[in-house]
Amino acid sequence: MTLRGKVALVTGGSRGIGRAIAEALTAAGSRVAICHSDDPASVTFPVAYSADVSSEVEVISLFDRVTEELGTPEIVVNNAGILHEAPLTETTLADFDRVIAVNLRGSFLVARESARRMESGRILNIASDLGLLGRENMAAYSASKGGIIALTRSMARELAPRILVNAIAPGPIDTDMTSPGAMSPEALAKDLDTPLARFGRPEEVAALATFLAGPQAGFITGQCYGVNGGSVMT
Ligand SMILES: NC(=O)c1ccc[n+]([C@@H]2O[C@H](COP(=O)([O-])OP(=O)(O)OC[C@H]3O[C@@H](n4cnc5c(N)ncnc54)[C@H](O)[C@@H]3O)[C@@H](O)[C@H]2O)c1
Repeated sequence: MTLRGKVALVTGGSRGIGRAIAEALTAAGSRVAICHSDDPASVTFPVAYSADVSSEVEVISLFDRVTEELGTPEIVVNNAGILHEAPLTETTLADFDRVIAVNLRGSFLVARESARRMESGRILNIASDLGLLGRENMAAYSASKGGIIALTRSMARELAPRILVNAIAPGPIDTDMTSPGAMSPEALAKDLDTPLARFGRPEEVAALATFLAGPQAGFITGQCYGVNGGSVMT
């Protein structure tokens, strides 16, 4: 119970990686709230709010509601994200802007609100190995994730030593985002082209997230860690 009593907020915590992180932080003793953009009837996590992370008004209201119900979050995980797969020439301005708005602007808005409110704590941003590698037919997504890594490093410098800011860049993880209907067969095959040649489990990302949120990670900031089956080696 290394995080006993800590208040945590996980964006996109209704399913997949975010859900696993929310459950792992809960198991470590945190009091966890999530936000999501799903049908509220489908969400089973105990403290769950509907909020679009790309909206400044909704992010501020989310923090107000979490603070009122649980207290000021000291651990904030920017996990909400969307994928868009299309050739560059068929990616519309609206497609590009939406991916950047949810993934990058959303991470900025949530981190900014965290920095305004928390005395000290941790911000953890979920990037992607594609933010380092790039990927054909995923330019907007890859750019948004590269932006998250640069945002992480900038915030880590600016907010030290009050708030430690790190990123996790997962490789292929078995979630709705990587389900056969959500990605092309070509992209799924590419995802498996790693030394470990399998999809990771959301819990394998959550284990690192819990460590980075905890007392043993007190000298770590501005880093970007892969949980990726070897897709990127640095
Ligand atoms: N699955 C992978 O292979 C993989 C790999 C690398 C990075 N990631 C990243 O991990 C994060 C979680 O991915 P996942 O695979 O669990 O996805 P998922 O599609 O299973 O879940 C996405 C979550 O984000 C929420 N969400 C989407 N848009 C939102 C919005 N505008 N406002 C608030 N919440 C919103 C959804 O409600 C859901 O809770 C994403 O940032 C994703 O880019 C995933």
